[in-house]
Amino acid sequence: MHKSVLLDECIHYLNLKDDSVIVDCTLGYGGHSSEILKRIPNGFLYAFDQDLDAINSSQKRLSELASNYEIIKSNFVNLRKELTKRTDLVDGILYDLGVSSPQLDEDERGFSFHKDARLDMRMDKSSPFSAYDVVNTYSYEELTNILYKYGEEKYASSIVKNIIKKREIKPIETTLELAEIIKESVPEKYRRDKHPARKTFQAIRIEVNHELDVFETSIKDALDLIKVGGRVCVITFHSLEDRMCKQIFKEVSEVDKLLRKLPIIPEDKMPKFKVIANISPSLEELEFNNRARSARLRVIERVR
Ligand SMILES: C[S@@+](CC[C@H](N)C(=O)[O-])C[C@H]1O[C@@H](n2cnc3c(N)ncnc32)[C@H](O)[C@@H]1O
Repeated sequence: MHKSVLLDECIHYLNLKDDSVIVDCTLGYGGHSSEILKRIPNGFLYAFDQDLDAINSSQKRLSELASNYEIIKSNFVNLRKELTKRTDLVDGILYDLGVSSPQLDEDERGFSFHKDARLDMRMDKSSPFSAYDVVNTYSYEELTNILYKYGEEKYASSIVKNIIKKREIKPIETTLELAEIIKESVPEKYRRDKHPARKTFQAIRIEVNHELDVFETSIKDALDLIKVGGRVCVITFHSLEDRMCKQIFKEVSEVDKLLRKLPIIPEDKMPKFKVIANISPSLEELEFNNRARSARLRVIERVR
């Protein structure tokens, strides 16, 4: 079962009205979408997901609540293309990034280092490119780069050396094979804290799904698609996504450095956006939802 993170906070900051038009870019199991739908009886919800399993189960949940919604099976990198076919500017856009608990828990998806499965990690099962390809075909330089950049894994070099040594004998096919290679590549002490495969698995998942690139494109488009008074809410689960979101929000909500010295800033040079919130889950939420540990919610409003 997926426990939605920062649910009350998102609902609060989306500032929903009866007739709001809202986009949920990460439908998942419909936790946020169903609470949104309950509050917009005369509005409309567009919900994106690239995972057919997630869509099938939330379709049932949403259809029991209302009919003023459309589920779009697509990567949210296509947000602009898909939305402009359907509607004008919207009142709110939500991202709850990363994978859901059912995706992690389903053995055959290959996201988890605790469960034996073929190396997969695709959120979109129709994509031809999986973790198997990353682990078995990337060069030493490409793999170490990914582990440093997306996993901030300090033992990247020794992990990758061992991966390459093993795959010269035979391809690395399963999650537990990979987890074992990682365990053997790091010092004893590192194995005692958190699971030593955590960062490598995160890095490979980000690479397989191009998570940072698609988020960067989509969030920039989202800022163009929001009405004056509308808000964009983003929940992130790791520092790279959060840093990217913070930087993009900063660029659109601050006056240009060169203009700051002027006594009066011309109206057309004033920022179009204002940062509204930057919060972490409450202690209460952290107590019952372990997945919320690294979550952060950032909210921005279009003001002109
Ligand atoms: C954390 S879950 C969302 C959970 C949801 N908010 C809920 O409360 O049930 C993230 C979902 O977004 C989807 N997702 C992640 N990246 C995506 C992308 N680039 N395009 C479309 N869907 C994406 C995943 O497949 C997953 O179902």
